[in-house]
Amino acid sequence: MKYLKNNKKGVIKIKKPKVFVTREIPKPGLDLLRKFCEVEVNSHDRVLTKQEIIKGIKGKDALLCLLTDNIDEEIIASNPNLKVIANYAVGYNNIDVSSATKYSIPVTNTPGVLTDTTADLTFSLLMCAARRLVESDKFMRAGKYKGWGPMLMLGHEITGKTIGIIGLGRIGSAVAKRAVNGFNMKVIYYEHDGPKPEVDKALGARYADFDQLLKEADFITLHVPLNDQTKHMISTKEFGLMKNTAILINTSRGPVINEKALVEALKKGKIAGAALDVYEEEPAMAPGLKELDNALIVPHVGSATIETRTKMATMAAENVVAAVQCKVPPNLVNRVSLEQWKCKI
Ligand code: GLV
Ligand code: GLV
Repeated sequence: MKYLKNNKKGVIKIKKPKVFVTREIPKPGLDLLRKFCEVEVNSHDRVLTKQEIIKGIKGKDALLCLLTDNIDEEIIASNPNLKVIANYAVGYNNIDVSSATKYSIPVTNTPGVLTDTTADLTFSLLMCAARRLVESDKFMRAGKYKGWGPMLMLGHEITGKTIGIIGLGRIGSAVAKRAVNGFNMKVIYYEHDGPKPEVDKALGARYADFDQLLKEADFITLHVPLNDQTKHMISTKEFGLMKNTAILINTSRGPVINEKALVEALKKGKIAGAALDVYEEEPAMAPGLKELDNALIVPHVGSATIETRTKMATMAAENVVAAVQCKVPPNLVNRVSLEQWKCKI
């Protein structure tokens, strides 16, 4: 316990701030938190219920949560004294940010550290889907390979094709770099806010309006945050515009695609394939999806490397440590009035 001299009252006790962590994260993050805070970590290896989170944050100064925790108004209102809600993810659609802002609680995320990792996974999915790797692996294991065949497992060429990137932020740009430098692809992109001339130039990418991108691209990849504008951005009408040889990749958030419409489009051959890391009702999948050979499905592993998850843990912890010390956390995503921020250690 630390003590601080106070001229008026003599000696007062300084208690370590208390933080609740909704699930175990890599040790360097927890170690950093423990240096400065009293840390309580969910001891179950599962997502907590709303009531468990409310109980967990009672009397705490900070919450470190995951993208699987739905931090809604009720949870936030149960402890308006929180000094920070630190998300262990770059996307923060799982947090009701406007409620947090209303209560003057800073919300933070982990941008940048997972950009290349997620772009790598996006390209892995693109290549696996184009070259039918998962189907081919199953085929071998099933003992069906009887020798080289001129028509066996024909896929889609990647080099020189057109990739349509929806959302040219950090991750979208990192995907564009791989496409241009590694595969000599033509890059077209769509951005809600219009062209980004500085980025186009550096990447050799061309802005296209949304419908045009859908019509032209051989591969379509989504890199937008989930919000009211992007929910179901890809649905029946959009599948109708795509080439029937197109492959759709999603490493952003599941609800950006209407998953039922996707299953229909894949069944009817409106597009050639889809490769998904995220799902509309995660961890559930739309009925019929897992039966389709032209769907490649992986369990939300975009940022899942040892190196990146460790950096995310440290970054989330740094945000907590700054906030409980009444410093503006480095990765603040909302606008909190500093006058109203109840920062009492
Ligand atoms: C992962 O999906 C993230 O947003 O960090
Ligand atoms: C997220 O990190 C993005 O800006 O793409």
